[in-house]
Amino acid sequence: MRQIFKKLSVLLLISALVAGCGSRLPKEDSGDNTENMTKADDAITVGFSQLGAESDWRSANTDSMLSALSEAEGYTLIYKNGQQKQANQITAIRTFIQQEVDYIVLAPATEDGWDTVLDEARQAEIPVILVDRRVNAADKNLYSCWVGSDFELEGKKMAAWIKAYTEGIGMEASDLHIVNIQGSIGSTAQIGRTRGLANAARDNGWDLMAEISGDFTETRGREVMAALLKRFDNINVVYCENDNMAIGAIDAIESAGKRVGKNIQRGEIMVVSFDGVNETALEYTRAGKISCIAECNPLHGPRVRALIEMLRNGETPEKFNYVDETLFSSVESVSEVTVDGETYTVEKNY
Ligand code: AHR
Repeated sequence: MRQIFKKLSVLLLISALVAGCGSRLPKEDSGDNTENMTKADDAITVGFSQLGAESDWRSANTDSMLSALSEAEGYTLIYKNGQQKQANQITAIRTFIQQEVDYIVLAPATEDGWDTVLDEARQAEIPVILVDRRVNAADKNLYSCWVGSDFELEGKKMAAWIKAYTEGIGMEASDLHIVNIQGSIGSTAQIGRTRGLANAARDNGWDLMAEISGDFTETRGREVMAALLKRFDNINVVYCENDNMAIGAIDAIESAGKRVGKNIQRGEIMVVSFDGVNETALEYTRAGKISCIAECNPLHGPRVRALIEMLRNGETPEKFNYVDETLFSSVESVSEVTVDGETYTVEKNY
């Protein structure tokens, strides 16, 4: 299964990048409770509770899900946007149960607090597939399976890149003054990426000065960075837990009259981030404004469809299905990083 996902990942990422990842939904929640329902006779009915529309990654993910579970593919998809609120997602799941859908797909905003509603789905004998983030349920049988990224590995790879790059330019560990602009607190993506950096900071003796949530949005990334620049005058590394926040943070740094870039010893502030979906962020890596991006692949639609097909055929998919991901950078000096004994190539993004 991992091999299939790896191949799909590469093919789909390339096609999405070529197509510019056109989005059908706004980048940030607009307050509009967008709902999309396509109907087909004899189709498999799927209720999809998406957590929100906070980032370009999310828009690409929603597009991928809507395409893969379309009428043309034999599905009737009921799509609900949770507006980044767990209460909305719980209501959506209860509605799907009332509608007697065949499958529920849940992209949970945060990890805790799902046991009751997932048990209601189980009582109704509706299989639940988790996508992207995970739930923290004591009973793993409350859902059939999960597909998504290894977020802690993403964080570890980024930390390994920071270590390789800064050691390569002769910096002392204690001279790294890092701030982390975190994603939405309690989400799997935030927990894993924060842990990856925090453990590396502790192990390497880096000065991790602050961890503050920017909620995965460009607006909050800008606000948080502006506040951090007022609080600290020695920040030299900004670890942003997604590209949208990095774009906002770069704007705040430049608006404060400072320069972004990899030349830390010449006073530049180095920005690193996660996703690799947003075209501006990829352009920023080519221009050297973002020094490294850890890929987070959003194209889960075909993967979820494959899992549904397995369940329909009476097969038991793997419980946890990870997607292989890479790093993008235009910094030439680091061509690979090693994490937990595995070596990962850094893809050059010129
Ligand atoms: O859960 C995946 C994360 O959610 C992406 O990194 C981020 O951009 C999104 O909002």
